[in-house]
Amino acid sequence: MSTSGLDQLSREHGEAGRRIRAMLAAAGRLRREPDAGALTATGEALAYFERDFVEHMAREDRGMLPTLDAVFGEWCALPAWMRREHVEIRAKLRDVRKAFDRAGGVEADRLEPLVSEVERLAALLTIHFHREDAWLYPIARQVLSAEQWAVIEKAAA
Ligand SMILES: [Fe+2]
Ligand SMILES: [Fe+2]
Repeated sequence: MSTSGLDQLSREHGEAGRRIRAMLAAAGRLRREPDAGALTATGEALAYFERDFVEHMAREDRGMLPTLDAVFGEWCALPAWMRREHVEIRAKLRDVRKAFDRAGGVEADRLEPLVSEVERLAALLTIHFHREDAWLYPIARQVLSAEQWAVIEKAAA
């Protein structure tokens, strides 16, 4: 069975985890000792999630999740649950972007809303990865056939 698409998605969770830690570290600096470097680092992490991670979720939405729907039908709520979390994560990314654009500089009163939104985004992402790594990906590895993986990888390409 070819599960290289799944291995790739798992590696992307690893990269996203490193970006979350970098984003939280930068946001922590914004709270304690704001400087332009911390604001830039927060913006870079945000741009990564808006670009690469939105694309990661879109590949899951196109490939693995509909394939699992087809296998399980309605009795497994996990694919629908993960799709709802993708919607929440995209909405939270928009909140963080708004807070980032409003911050505009390193004045403390504008930074706190940004730091809070970054912390909410980090929590949502971390919980989502845990659910996918612990439940979704092992289930997909177990139940999907080589033919289904071929379809998933085509959808992801
Ligand atoms: Fe996901
Ligand atoms: Fe994922």
